Amino acid sequence: MNLALINIKQLLTVTANGSRVKTGKSMQNLGIIENAAVLIQDERIAWTGRMEDLSMGKLKDTDVLDCLDRIVMPGFVDSHTHLLFAGSRENEFAMRCAGSSYQEIASKGGGILSTVRKVRETSKKELKKNTRRWLNALLKQGTTTVEIKSGYGLDTDSEIKMLEAIHEMNAEEVVTIIPTFLGAHAVPPEYAGRKGSYVEEIIGKMIPYIGKKNLAAFCDVFCEQGYFDPADCRKILSSGTSHGMLAKIHADELTPSGGAELAAELRAVSADHLENASDEGIKALGEAGVVATLLPGVSFFLNHRYAPARKMIEAGVPVALATDFNPGSCMSYSMPIMMTIACTQMRMSPEEAITATTLNAAAALNLSSDIGSIEIGKKADLIVLDIPNYMFLSYHFGENHVEKVVKNGVVLEF
Ligand code: NIG
Ligand code: FE
Repeated sequence: MNLALINIKQLLTVTANGSRVKTGKSMQNLGIIENAAVLIQDERIAWTGRMEDLSMGKLKDTDVLDCLDRIVMPGFVDSHTHLLFAGSRENEFAMRCAGSSYQEIASKGGGILSTVRKVRETSKKELKKNTRRWLNALLKQGTTTVEIKSGYGLDTDSEIKMLEAIHEMNAEEVVTIIPTFLGAHAVPPEYAGRKGSYVEEIIGKMIPYIGKKNLAAFCDVFCEQGYFDPADCRKILSSGTSHGMLAKIHADELTPSGGAELAAELRAVSADHLENASDEGIKALGEAGVVATLLPGVSFFLNHRYAPARKMIEAGVPVALATDFNPGSCMSYSMPIMMTIACTQMRMSPEEAITATTLNAAAALNLSSDIGSIEIGKKADLIVLDIPNYMFLSYHFGENHVEKVVKNGVVLEF
């Protein structure tokens, strides 16, 4: 079916002019067309331009969506979430409000391991039911592609249960879901004091099965003091890539742990978090072209330091923004709220924040040739925003400005 979006006040194409990501000053350039139209054929963008250049002949056999002077941009790509989980951790939130730290709570058996206990005892069906609720809500808020990690199972059967659930949901739900294997999220209690044996289970059992069944596009690790060190991570990611997965790293979140350097060395697709990345690590990311996925919602929610976004952009690192939605460190899947925090706390510009949640976020999933900008041939995943100009997206925060979502060329009804 063909679809035309007409009378668009500002069309943010975020065109990359053939490159995979935007870096440096080009992150400011949103490729804006004023008073614009978009034509979609067979789920893909067929034409973009100004209204006066749209010949009426092009609208034959085409459904027309009159955008009534609204703003149109690519759907958000949330390239880092832990969206599949059971239970909730509001008790930990209250403990942090009273002064406890994320690490103190984790050392008392809370944190990641408390969600692991819940996920292990929850059926795949029930996990999917919980997750469906979040997926419906984030789609209404403009996220059209979302990555979901395993990592709350931490034994072979439970990790596979999570990845199968993620896979099934990709087929069943409208939003595109990208699965990531994160067996190295924490050392499970039955391996306490025997981290090496757990790493062996990941490499010997989990990765070969997941690779064979094609259950994950990415392999991720939590490279952090007290979790997995760079040597463990190097082993796990090498095994993951030899079984067909691409590498991602939770890097330098709580301490400078060599994660950024390792991501550059392994040519990972992305290094995520980076709140405590070293100057050498940042330089290495820029040289290797690794996407830095920054998660300002975590710094906000845990009251931790923010990643040095300006330094990274100046060093030529392609910067993306994601939510990290999870019950512990960021209980929000709102991409616009992440943009507002990135602007006020990390001094990103509203334009950079848009590039970081669309094109560069797609690159963090190795998908920027297909999504993330409004260019001929790309998938028609677009959102229509009821705001006077694009800056309102970061400026007027806490409100859902998304009026319509077009996914695969279809206008969704909510
Ligand atoms: O990205 N850092 C590790 N993992 C998550 C937190 C998960 C949790 O607390 O449940 C993160 O912040
Ligand atoms: Fe995370």
